[in-house]
Amino acid sequence: MPGTKGCRIGWPEDVGITAMEVYFPSQYVDQTELEQFDGISAGKYTIGLGQEKMGFCSDREDVHSLALTVVKNLMLHYDVKPTEIGRIEVGTETIIDKSKSVKTVLMQLFQDSGNTDVEGIDTTNACYGGTNALFNSVNWVESSSWDGRYALVVCSDIAVYATGPARCTGGAGAVAMLIGPDAAVVLDRGVRSSHMEHSYDFYKPNLDSEYPVVDGKLSIQCYLGALDKCYQRFKAKASATFLEGSTFTLADADGFCFHSPYCKLVQKSVARLLFNDFLAQPDKPEYDHLQAFREIKLEDSYFNKDVEKAFMTASQKLFEQKTRPALLLANQVGNMYTPSVYANLCSYITGHTAATLTGKRAVLFSFGSGLASSMYSVKFSSNISPDSPLAKLTASLSDLPQRLESRQKVDPSVFSEALKLREETHHLAPYTPVGDTAVLFPGTFYLTSIDDKYRREYAIANGGSQLATTSTEPAMKKLASDTPITNGDPRPVNA
Ligand code: ACO
Repeated sequence: MPGTKGCRIGWPEDVGITAMEVYFPSQYVDQTELEQFDGISAGKYTIGLGQEKMGFCSDREDVHSLALTVVKNLMLHYDVKPTEIGRIEVGTETIIDKSKSVKTVLMQLFQDSGNTDVEGIDTTNACYGGTNALFNSVNWVESSSWDGRYALVVCSDIAVYATGPARCTGGAGAVAMLIGPDAAVVLDRGVRSSHMEHSYDFYKPNLDSEYPVVDGKLSIQCYLGALDKCYQRFKAKASATFLEGSTFTLADADGFCFHSPYCKLVQKSVARLLFNDFLAQPDKPEYDHLQAFREIKLEDSYFNKDVEKAFMTASQKLFEQKTRPALLLANQVGNMYTPSVYANLCSYITGHTAATLTGKRAVLFSFGSGLASSMYSVKFSSNISPDSPLAKLTASLSDLPQRLESRQKVDPSVFSEALKLREETHHLAPYTPVGDTAVLFPGTFYLTSIDDKYRREYAIANGGSQLATTSTEPAMKKLASDTPITNGDPRPVNA
């Protein structure tokens, strides 16, 4: 734990993610039922887009409450004291205030500890803000500014679309990541590769609405174009660093985690990476059956169905082995926006123990419309002792499937009404939310009121069937104390 060892001299080693926590809403809508409700052809959302369930929030949850919940849970489960945090960076595109950051709201959790010496603030660019927050935090730990404490990266978003073809690609959730040296998930040095560009594919110019303006087809083209650019640059850097000169291909990583707007696009992305590998070395014997495509240019092929079909078939096995396991949360919750790629990393980890993960390498692709994108790789720690960060991380994330199963399914009409209410009450002040708090997971922060000055108050649901009555105060006091506590969350503290 860097905070207890004091400042280190020299370059910290193995900087990366040392703990992860994911939060998703307790209610979901089934995509097959949504197809029927929306009156579109059976299979479009489930087979065509690859989505099974979609999580959503009532008016009781907002970007603040999601972030508060995930940070509180991470600190309780990993027994992290508020005084051990020296930096907090939030990535979000769910803007409820044009000035006041989500990070400042999170400082409520640190108030009782007296620790106000916490750098960092929010980053916004569609689904990419969390990656910028992560890079900033890793850079801080590796810099002369580092004071020996952890950084905390928080990604939090509610993804909702107006009625129409995009609505089924919504979702919601939050991920918190503790950043430090000697980490469980170490970021490879010298391979980060980015592509940034100006585009109007998805943006939120109307601050009176939660909904984006979306050009669906353009957003897919932007995503695939950014993937090509990042992968070409990543291939060159990875080849020159950890592969010592041989060309990086899909065979050189054990897992590939993508930002997931919907799972079918991720499957097409794996095919796209294979197409890149093929175009870079078309004469390899394993590509004999793909020679018809060697003259096709990447930029002419975003919607080329022949290319897509051939390379989806050729990459099917790779997809099943290296990417499908990372799509659990994407398939079951939907697009979480900034948390998406990190929720997918959690999904990749959940099937593993420290012993099965150690030494493995995963490649991550982060994309935010508008646009900003990066690809980088991580390696899982070689330290797998029972109290190692990797052992704690795998133990903590092992119950994700059960947590998903414990959610409540609601009828699409309930989902539709919830979104209508959010739409009608967005930015209303004063406002008292009406959503049922009894359906929330125990330990979830929820919105109790917005006063006539737009100031928001939150409380914590303590579960059961009765209305929650606790205030935020006990959880904050407990976080400030050194005594291990339980918080109503069904999972054991310090799992
Ligand atoms: N059974 C099986 N498949 C079907 C069926 C059916 N009954 N009906 C349609 N499909 C298939 C289509 O053939 C298509 O497959 P393809 O993509 O392989 O060609 C797929 O389902 C989707 O159908 P479309 O008609 O292309 O869908 P539409 O254009 O109505 O909407 C879109 C899809 C554009 C993704 C929309 O949901 C959207 O705008 N989403 C938000 C934007 C987004 O997520 N962009 C991605 C990157 S940006 C970001 O992360 C926000």
